[in-house]
Amino acid sequence: MYAQVLVFRPIRLRHSPLLDYRVPESLTSVLRSGVLVVVPLRTQVLPGLVMGLSDTPSVPKTRDIVRVLDPEPVLGERLLELARWMSRETLAPLHRCVQVMLPPGMRPKAFLRLVPRVDHVPPDLPLPAAALLQLLVDRGTLRDDQARAALRNVDVRRARQYLKRKGYIDVARILRMPGVRVKQVQVVQLAVERSAWDAGLVGLQRRQLYGSVLAFLEQEADLVEVSVVRAETGIELFARAGCIYCHGKNGDGRGPVAAAIVKPKPRDFTAAEFKFDADDNGSTGSDADLLQVIQRGALTFGGSAIMMPNPALSEDEIKTLIAFLRRFEQ
Ligand code: HEC
Repeated sequence: MYAQVLVFRPIRLRHSPLLDYRVPESLTSVLRSGVLVVVPLRTQVLPGLVMGLSDTPSVPKTRDIVRVLDPEPVLGERLLELARWMSRETLAPLHRCVQVMLPPGMRPKAFLRLVPRVDHVPPDLPLPAAALLQLLVDRGTLRDDQARAALRNVDVRRARQYLKRKGYIDVARILRMPGVRVKQVQVVQLAVERSAWDAGLVGLQRRQLYGSVLAFLEQEADLVEVSVVRAETGIELFARAGCIYCHGKNGDGRGPVAAAIVKPKPRDFTAAEFKFDADDNGSTGSDADLLQVIQRGALTFGGSAIMMPNPALSEDEIKTLIAFLRRFEQ
């Protein structure tokens, strides 16, 4: 069996934009039109799309398909036909017509893998090459796009060519597969009127939190992703910033780490009692007080070092956290 494969780059062929490859025995059962494969072309291997299958090749010599990237076709027969038609009618190259049909990110990308062959940077290298080599020595093997992201002002291509020529690095070609997968999200929508909330919330431990989720949903006419609800109501940040480990998911100071903390215990937010008068105005527990404690840690105000500073949180984030932790108050 032979496959007519489209590679995603312009190539000059006399009769057809497709290349013929032999299908190895092991792949005959999975290979279909519309499937992405890896094929050799001159000295490289490239991603390609199977556009058709036949029993005989149109050229005397063929090479083998290397492997199948994904047995699930990315385009169906009818879209492949449409692409052929578009190309015929408009004289646009076939690979362009196919590309516009592929979902973003579906096209496999070719990368270079840069492998350092030395463990220190020799002194007399030109600057761009020295910067790239230093990066590879520090971080080990990288893809060229990673190197480019790390060295924004360096001409990575030239530096790479130079280093390879001088034998300081090895360069290999790799293919990264399409990263697109079906993404499932959970969505929610308010199903009951506000008048019915109270009855439902009575006796629930996280009444305030649930109440605020409902209030948020009330403002949204459509389905809302659960992750959006989390972000809006602060719970995600509470978890991400690590507060949840000590103060607990119910805000009662009984997170998984709390048992190991002797005294003082992580604050129980349901009790709404606060200790530190961070702004020195005679009262504790104001937003301004909590902001400083969360930002600078309790030790700064004579409390426990276990309640650590959070320099990575922005003021806005801390305000979200404060609004959130007040919802635990009963
Ligand atoms: C490693 C455990 C731990 C983590 C993580 C932690 N806390 Fe605390 N937290 C404590 C302890 C212990 C106290 C009590 C400190 C004291 O009384 O000296 C406390 C106290 C507090 C207080 C009370 C301040 C006051 O004036 O009484 C607030 C508010 C607070 N934490 C918020 C947070 C927030 C927000 C986060 C996440 C960014 C967080 N904590 C993360 C252990 C922790």
